[in-house]
Amino acid sequence: MENSITVEGLTKEYNGKLALDNVSFDVKKGEVFGYLGPNGAGKSTTIKILSGLIEQTSGNAFINGLDIRRERVEIKKRIGVVPETSNLYPELSVIENLLFVSKLYHVPRATREEKINELLTIFNLKKYKNQGFGKLSKGLKRRTVLAAALVHDPDIVFMDEPTSGLDVVSARNLRRMIRNFKEKDITVFLTTHYIEEAGGLCDRIAILVNGKIVKIDTPKALEDSLQEVPILEVSIESSKPIHDNVFNELLSEKVHIHGKKIRIYTRDVSETISTLSRLSKEQEFKITELNTLKPSMEDAFIKLTGLSSEQMSVDKEIKR
Ligand SMILES: Nc1ncnc2c1ncn2[C@@H]1O[C@H](COP(=O)(O)OP(=O)(O)O)[C@@H](O)[C@H]1O
Ligand SMILES: [Mg+2]
Repeated sequence: MENSITVEGLTKEYNGKLALDNVSFDVKKGEVFGYLGPNGAGKSTTIKILSGLIEQTSGNAFINGLDIRRERVEIKKRIGVVPETSNLYPELSVIENLLFVSKLYHVPRATREEKINELLTIFNLKKYKNQGFGKLSKGLKRRTVLAAALVHDPDIVFMDEPTSGLDVVSARNLRRMIRNFKEKDITVFLTTHYIEEAGGLCDRIAILVNGKIVKIDTPKALEDSLQEVPILEVSIESSKPIHDNVFNELLSEKVHIHGKKIRIYTRDVSETISTLSRLSKEQEFKITELNTLKPSMEDAFIKLTGLSSEQMSVDKEIKR
């Protein structure tokens, strides 16, 4: 199948510091490709390079087979971009912004209004169409930026954290729209730091940490890859504080401690339980609850990246 996006060894340095480190991946036509990673991983940098806003330090990338260094103008006509921060005019109204962008992209006069009306409906913006963009709430701005990215019916849509700052209804509409893109063979490249969102929406997910891709796979395969590693969740009670190093014996596997709950990723449940039981006598704590859990997307993520879910879910304060 044809590739919409091909990335080969993409690297970006800012003042000698690596933000993207030799990243490679392909996105097929019509695919919804998720780019998942914590803040600072290099997600926005990737979108900025692929959409021609900044240049890579080294490596190659192709959009619809066109080299991003050489064919920017041609590429711009075929892509829609939802940037992290708004790119619209605060002094223009919603509809004026959408008309402006339509003209910029040479959307034929005959279809311009129809297209804009359709987008105003999808994003529930009809009521606000004559309001100044600059005075809108964060969520309304976000919806307008999303609409503006789609006025020219792009083949490929880049979305940087599209649901961040959106109200629940708009976020749901957007997810529905992204699923509909598939029928129209529109390719979607979206970044997110919401693990569950990526799992529910994307055909494949690339996990990015510190500028490097840790893993690329389908959400199902990411979850299944953990099936053979059950998770034991253990609640403990103790009259004295329990130090992490009490569990050192278990650390051949992976242990996460959250207050009185510990999660243990183990290949041998029975062995782990007997170690825990011995530890509880030696260290005088009580095991009050013991469960085995099916690994979720989040667990897959934690296992693959070594990051905690707390580190992932920190929302960055974004000015829009
Ligand atoms: N214009 C810039 N100048 C210097 N450093 C930058 C610039 N933009 C991003 N960075 C750094 O590059 C890294 C990746 O940033 P970014 O691509 O914005 O990550 P993400 O979108 O995943 O949160 C971060 O360490 C960030 O501080
Ligand atoms: Mg970002």
